[in-house]
Amino acid sequence: MELPFAESYKIKMVEPIWKSTREQREEWIKKANYNLFNLRSEQVFIDLLTDSGTGSMSQNQWAAIMTGDESYAGSSSYYHLKDAIKNILGFDYFLPTHQGRAAENVLFSVLVKEGDVVPGNSHFDTTKGHIEYRKASAVDCTIDEAFDTESLHPFKGNIDLEKLEAVYSTHPAGQISMVIVTVTCNTSGGQPVSMQNLRDVHALSQKYGIKVVFDSARFAENAWFIQQREDEYRNSTIKEIVAEMFSYADAMTMSSKKDGMVNIGGFIAMKDEELLKQASVFNIMFEGFNTYGGMAGRDMNALAVGLDEVTTGYYLENRIQQVAYLGNKLIEWGIPVQKPIGGHAVFVDAKKFLGHVPKEEYIAQTLAIELYLEAGVRGVEVGTLLADRDPKTRENRYPKLEMLRLAIPRRTYTNNHMDVVAVALKNIFDRREEIDHGYRIKKEAPIMRHFSVELEHAEKVHKK
Ligand code: F0G
Repeated sequence: MELPFAESYKIKMVEPIWKSTREQREEWIKKANYNLFNLRSEQVFIDLLTDSGTGSMSQNQWAAIMTGDESYAGSSSYYHLKDAIKNILGFDYFLPTHQGRAAENVLFSVLVKEGDVVPGNSHFDTTKGHIEYRKASAVDCTIDEAFDTESLHPFKGNIDLEKLEAVYSTHPAGQISMVIVTVTCNTSGGQPVSMQNLRDVHALSQKYGIKVVFDSARFAENAWFIQQREDEYRNSTIKEIVAEMFSYADAMTMSSKKDGMVNIGGFIAMKDEELLKQASVFNIMFEGFNTYGGMAGRDMNALAVGLDEVTTGYYLENRIQQVAYLGNKLIEWGIPVQKPIGGHAVFVDAKKFLGHVPKEEYIAQTLAIELYLEAGVRGVEVGTLLADRDPKTRENRYPKLEMLRLAIPRRTYTNNHMDVVAVALKNIFDRREEIDHGYRIKKEAPIMRHFSVELEHAEKVHKK
């Protein structure tokens, strides 16, 4: 018999999590105004809200925490991180920041001005937020296959080169801040971008004189898919693939809370010294002096180790296997999900799952609430609430896909936990015909409303 798969690590420290009753959860979610961000962590059994900053560090990372250097300027931890960024990612210059959106804030302060356009592959919400806050606009150039959850395209994060060239050829170069390539593309389901696409985007952008910036939160997961799915790279190591990926970028922003394998932190890296100088001014204002930028020395040390660990094949195999384990179980049971399964999360296609809930009642949020009530599992809506209102018309923006994202923290849960999540969704799927109403907004913020929105039950307006 072939031996089954098992993780290449064992557990040295454990953290309790709490089960609850359905009655308790009904009360808690009502008090939380049906917003899962308002729940306390003790009210959640399995927390798949995000894979950001929620993973477990290794013993080598904890050891690096103990040898962190907290000097304000020129700490050894800064230099450890600088070396890791140079050796693994290939950038000569970098600025630490306290997390990914801070990296966006600093870099966009240099590159984005009012009236600009910023093409890319389904920009992440904070990225889009930082663009729109500067009265510029994000243009989504993702390939159409990404919006068909049944399509088995191996690289659904790819940029459609025709859509990109349409932006380049209809705007003066001075009005295009940069192109942002998100690897993997979170918004389209943790879907990877192929090396060929990165190469083509770089070549096209060079032709038009446009900077290429990678939003790199899950760059290592992207490299894993290139190794598995792009023939040319089958025999390359992850570190070789990562080095080539970043050879096609002028700069990168990073949320270290994902593939940095740490609980907090971010950075910007670039090849151009002039860009470093310009960004430094904003980094010092918003984040901190250039050799710590909002991070503790100990955290920079752990991040340097994390960048090395995340680019090993054995780690990535464990990681991607677990996400696929959950995803394949759902597929087996006929539950509609974004296919193929992405790198960090399983995305449930809520429109297909809950056909009776009208889009005005937030379909994916409705499913997220049902899953919490069923088993104390917390996922997150990636749908109309997240998409916010159009900044000009203030109308709801209804995205092509309404998703419930189940993001899996790194090295944190076991496959027993994944089984609970799968069965909970199956139970809801079996009674989905009974769910014919969703929620209405009581209160919302003008931007990034999903974090604080208050909801109430909609009436049963949609009679069968
Ligand atoms: N870019 C991508 C692709 C992201 O997924 C995130 C965060 C950021 C930028 C911002 O980084 O949180 O460190 O400020 N994503 C988290 C998530 C929040 O749940 O997907 P941050």
